[in-house]
Amino acid sequence: MTSPPESPRESPRNSVHVFPDIEALSRAAAQHIVSHMDRVLSEADRYTLALAGGSTPRRLYELLTGVYSGDLPWKQVHVFWGDERFVPHDDPNSNVRLARETLLDHVDIPEGNVHPIPTETEPTAEAAARAYAATLQRAFDSPASTFDAALLGVGSDGHTASLFPPLDRTDAPSDPSAPEAWAKASQAPPEASPRTRVTCTLPVLNGARQALVLASGSRKQEALHRVLADPDPSLPAAQIQPRSQLSWFLDAAAQPPGLSAS
Ligand code: 6PG
Repeated sequence: MTSPPESPRESPRNSVHVFPDIEALSRAAAQHIVSHMDRVLSEADRYTLALAGGSTPRRLYELLTGVYSGDLPWKQVHVFWGDERFVPHDDPNSNVRLARETLLDHVDIPEGNVHPIPTETEPTAEAAARAYAATLQRAFDSPASTFDAALLGVGSDGHTASLFPPLDRTDAPSDPSAPEAWAKASQAPPEASPRTRVTCTLPVLNGARQALVLASGSRKQEALHRVLADPDPSLPAAQIQPRSQLSWFLDAAAQPPGLSAS
């Protein structure tokens, strides 16, 4: 499984897209992913996609199943997760369950191409993080060059994946052989139950060729102001810097006052 050679790292092209509602946002994001897959698979034999959790991507996943499913070469797609709650995969709070119900159970993706965070077979979140780090190490040569695309959300506190503020600058060792360079256990604040999580590290998320951040609803406005309009470096979402392209997909309700689409 090979990917095309990477251009030297440069600051990613950032773009902010604002849509009337979650439906329009999801359709645009689905089309963006389909177009990117086509481009990558015209030069490579696999496309690696990290899925987001939470509720925002639900409609996007449904669209990738239905409207666009005929276009996608699922046998060449490998699916990972940016993070997971430390619950069984059939738990209503599981990010794997969301993706299977809305997308993966409805497309012909080989089971060997689906790489969930192993929250059922490992006794602790720390053990699951180590096991998932091994999965990522088998798939990628370095934390600095990972997914073709990473789908992310943003919390009202400025978290992304399961990296919660304040950002721990010491959170990922640079030694790629260390599991902690790839994934770690984390604890969400009380209001973000389930609290025990497993997450890719920030360097692994930023090792993606491109990232799409989806945000919907007025409760995201303040966080997006502190990430996009007046960046607060302590917020993990303000530290998303993929290798080549960062695209924000917002609905009008989430758009901070004064921030224009770009
Ligand atoms: C998770 C997600 C998390 C999510 C945000 C937004 O496992 O919860 O990875 O980072 O993307 O909390 O969640 P909503 O989409 O539900 O608003």
